[in-house]
Amino acid sequence: MGNITSLNHDMSADTNVSADPEVLENLSKKGFVLCRNFFTKSYTGELNDNIQRYARLDHPGIIKEDDGITFRGIHGPHLYDSFFDQIASNKQIVALAEKILGEACYLHQFKINMKQKMTGQAWPWHEDFVYWREKDGITEPKLVNIAVLLDDTDMLSGPLCFIPGSHNRANTYAESDEKVISDWRNDLSADLNYKIDNESVADMIDAWGIEYALGNAGDLLVFNPLIAHCSGSNLSPFDRRLLILTFNAVSNAPAVQRGRPEFLCGRQPLV
Ligand code: SIN
Ligand code: MN
Repeated sequence: MGNITSLNHDMSADTNVSADPEVLENLSKKGFVLCRNFFTKSYTGELNDNIQRYARLDHPGIIKEDDGITFRGIHGPHLYDSFFDQIASNKQIVALAEKILGEACYLHQFKINMKQKMTGQAWPWHEDFVYWREKDGITEPKLVNIAVLLDDTDMLSGPLCFIPGSHNRANTYAESDEKVISDWRNDLSADLNYKIDNESVADMIDAWGIEYALGNAGDLLVFNPLIAHCSGSNLSPFDRRLLILTFNAVSNAPAVQRGRPEFLCGRQPLV
């Protein structure tokens, strides 16, 4: 593992997030919640410097946009680099995940969506859980996404868009076709394997509306694995990077591994 930067400084501006009842309330009601100023600006700057360093090397789990040049996503950097391993086991974040899931959890996925200035492509409407059920054999949606905004994010840079309350809908959508058996990269491209169909999206927006995850570098964005979400392309002159840690309850770990690479399907319980 390479490690160029020490974390021996105050990385967190607000460490009380798991004790805030409004966080759990909003998450349960709307399916997502934004917690402002979780990390300091200096720490998100350090994160972005380390992402740049990491992306220069030829690690597994890195994917590009359709142009074959622009970085789209980095998966599982904690497996190869101790800087990222430290954020994956950040005590406040793990405590928040365990509070939300109500039990011990482990890291299922660690990804950084790069959404580069002017060239970063969209993410179509989808829910996350269907991937983990179909591809990894995880049976229950007892997972949570805890994301860190790495850049100030506005409407032009392709923010995440959520349909509030859609995580509580009766049915989950998994429009799939023969592509489902294809390479793991198709689970991460701008043409996703499992999308929510247009009619269902229209019905849900009609019923529940839409909200945009606008915020600043260092904010934490927590969201439910069943919530309907998407994001547009980045037409701004600024990157819109998002680091997403997905935790699974230990009791919900898949009984057998279905063969996706470890950088997409975590093997190691944290506790
Ligand atoms: C995005 O980075 O905009 C998409 C993230 C996701 O779908 O989980
Ligand atoms: Mn998603």
